[in-house]
Amino acid sequence: MTKHIVIGFLGCGNVGSGVWRLLEGFGDAIEHRAGLRFHVKKVLVRDLTKKRDVAFPADVLTDNPDDVLTDPEIQIVAEFLGGEEPAYKYLLRALGAGKTVVTANKVAFALHWHELQKAAKASGAGLYYEAAVCGAIPIIHSLEESLQANFIDKIYGIVNGTTNYILTRMSKNGEDYATVLKDAQKLGLAEPDPAADVEGLDAAYKLSILASLAFHGRVPFEDVYVEGITRVGAEDIRCGQDLGYTLKLLAIAKRKGLDVETRVHPTFIRSDHPLANVSGSFNAVYLHGHACKEMMFLGRGAGDMPTASAIVSDLERAASVRKHLYPTFENAPNPRVTLKNNTDWQCPFYIRMLAKDEPGVLYRIAKCFADQGVSLAAVQQKGEQANGRVTLVIITHTASEKAVQRAVTSLDGEIATLKSIIRVEEE
Ligand SMILES: NC(=O)c1ccc[n+]([C@@H]2O[C@H](COP(=O)([O-])OP(=O)(O)OC[C@H]3O[C@@H](n4cnc5c(N)ncnc54)[C@H](OP(=O)(O)O)[C@@H]3O)[C@@H](O)[C@H]2O)c1
Repeated sequence: MTKHIVIGFLGCGNVGSGVWRLLEGFGDAIEHRAGLRFHVKKVLVRDLTKKRDVAFPADVLTDNPDDVLTDPEIQIVAEFLGGEEPAYKYLLRALGAGKTVVTANKVAFALHWHELQKAAKASGAGLYYEAAVCGAIPIIHSLEESLQANFIDKIYGIVNGTTNYILTRMSKNGEDYATVLKDAQKLGLAEPDPAADVEGLDAAYKLSILASLAFHGRVPFEDVYVEGITRVGAEDIRCGQDLGYTLKLLAIAKRKGLDVETRVHPTFIRSDHPLANVSGSFNAVYLHGHACKEMMFLGRGAGDMPTASAIVSDLERAASVRKHLYPTFENAPNPRVTLKNNTDWQCPFYIRMLAKDEPGVLYRIAKCFADQGVSLAAVQQKGEQANGRVTLVIITHTASEKAVQRAVTSLDGEIATLKSIIRVEEE
């Protein structure tokens, strides 16, 4: 017998329209497979006069959130508004009223996970968020359920399609950042205001969620070190390629005992690493667990239908389970047993500088690093001398972040000026 579930949407832009279309076009199959039929009763939007791709029946659209949040018939609220507020406020109200929430909103979720979970548990409602990280890739469900028998110690994610598209084109065609960004905006692959993507914030929200699940403890967004791709130059990408590296904006999370490091920054990885071939707007998550060993998830991290795939799967899960489950770690801002945030991680570094072209300079540069306990694995001169200066590319052995920062700060500007510094992950 078919179970009928009444749902309400908060927002109906790209993602919401995709969900509407998927429920409409695939509704019979869902009923056949799962015995579920979803009925969208109300859809909250900001502008009722806006022209839309979806032909909504009369009286479905509303600009009053109460029509969704206080309707006793609506059992599940699916949220695709985006941003922290008013989404967070609405989600709390929905959960407080005992309505299960399915959300695609990484910002509100990453920032307020513990409050949302508390409200959900208090009312017995469900809280589902697969679409908040990596669109169609079922990474949340995998971490929550299928990989529970693992101590996961490492995650490398390409979790932002916009920046991966930009870096892929810069790497393949030698184009510069500003040109590719403009093109990406024209193609709809970057927002008119691209800051959240190119500054790495979007990836950091997602990493906070992934690391919390993988390491079984809350990793707050504020603990994630973030550096975007805005200062990445074609020259560094080329120099890295000569050394066998590909540049990616990686979301990295590592755990050793209770020590956890989480960081988002441009990273050189070996060009034969599986992540190096993740091109364009694709997303991927590569992880290591003590039992499952290495594993990689690859797929579309955005787009109306790929994201709808995750949302509708969450709707089905939410409507089928006998009892909603919540992550079992102590999800609180100050948990009793806490993971420690390690900001002095260790990795090799790529450093490009312009150095004076005269005897003794190399010795003085090497000494700045040696004084901080940083040893150099390779030094290469690139190109010809210009104005008495040459480009030097240094690769360090594995070294501490803080020691390398001290070493480059101690460089005498008379002999060398730092042009760029990029962390390397050797796998
Ligand atoms: N786009 C993707 O591929 C993708 C992938 C994964 C996750 N997500 C997440 O999904 C969410 C939605 O993304 P989207 O691309 O669908 O955004 P969008 O196209 O901008 O749609 C946002 C929707 O929310 C409505 N809205 C916004 N603020 C509102 C307010 N204060 N009151 C009432 N309605 C409001 C808008 O109404 P109007 O239609 O009237 O403007 C619109 O329908 C975000 O959290 C995003 O991070 C997106």
